[in-house]
Amino acid sequence: MTHPEDIDVISLARVAREVATEAAALIVDERPPGLGVMTTKTSAVDIVTEMDQRAQDLLRRRLGERRPDDAFLGEEEGSSDGTSAITWVVDPIDGTVNYLYGIPAYCVSVAAVTGDPREVGQWRPVAGAVVNPVTGERFHAARGQGAYRAVGAGEATRLAASGASDLATALIGTGFGYVAPRRRWQADVLAQVLPAVRDIRRMGSAALDLCHVADGALDGYYERGLNPWDFAAGWLVATEAGALVTDEHGGAPSGAMIVAARPGLHAALSGELRSAIAVVTPETP
Ligand code: IPD
Ligand code: CA
Repeated sequence: MTHPEDIDVISLARVAREVATEAAALIVDERPPGLGVMTTKTSAVDIVTEMDQRAQDLLRRRLGERRPDDAFLGEEEGSSDGTSAITWVVDPIDGTVNYLYGIPAYCVSVAAVTGDPREVGQWRPVAGAVVNPVTGERFHAARGQGAYRAVGAGEATRLAASGASDLATALIGTGFGYVAPRRRWQADVLAQVLPAVRDIRRMGSAALDLCHVADGALDGYYERGLNPWDFAAGWLVATEAGALVTDEHGGAPSGAMIVAARPGLHAALSGELRSAIAVVTPETP
């Protein structure tokens, strides 16, 4: 068994970047005219297009060619076990609703993680890439090596999260799930948080939101209801840019909650979220 310290995170990040870039080109270049919804998942608005599945199939094939011993976990159909210490956790299109509507805030997210990504608190990303094919932005990070963004053919520049520490003047990203009871809870929490911050942005891609914490376009971000593929790569990119990424109690980020910001603002935002959650009606199943 490979010891985590022996993992070559720089070459994993290169693989993540290359396969994510190829899949990002695919979803733009091969988008069929009149693209529609292929199927739905947790609700009528939780959609899958044929390009989500095709992009995931491409990622799985390329990762299998280059890293045959690793496990694979993706948002769409088709996961596999491995024999190495690495699992690839991929979201073939994060921001699928934006993709369907032609809003340029979607991306391919690819992360190499250690541990079991299905077990909260039992896994960590060690390398990752997030590519927005419309803006040409490519974010990437390797554990301990910093976070970077390149645009088009340009040089990669190192990222640093915003230094904002005052919650009242902080721009905060968030997102909403696909089922009504979750959204009701999210709206109730948001009603508490909104008066306490500069403003809220709901851009529609959690992976990009976390990268925007890394590049300072957002001061902070929180969301309930994410899956590992939504945040695996963005978690590392934000962390390597100096942000703290946890739940609202300082534990591992999970579907229950993810909070990302530099430590001072993170403490203020987490406190605000704990207060909000304490007064809202709990989510009903
Ligand atoms: C969604 C996006 C969105 C977030 C949702 C996710 P998808 O992923 O990341 O911003 O608010 O919670 O499910 O469905 O576009 O891959
Ligand atoms: Ca997603």
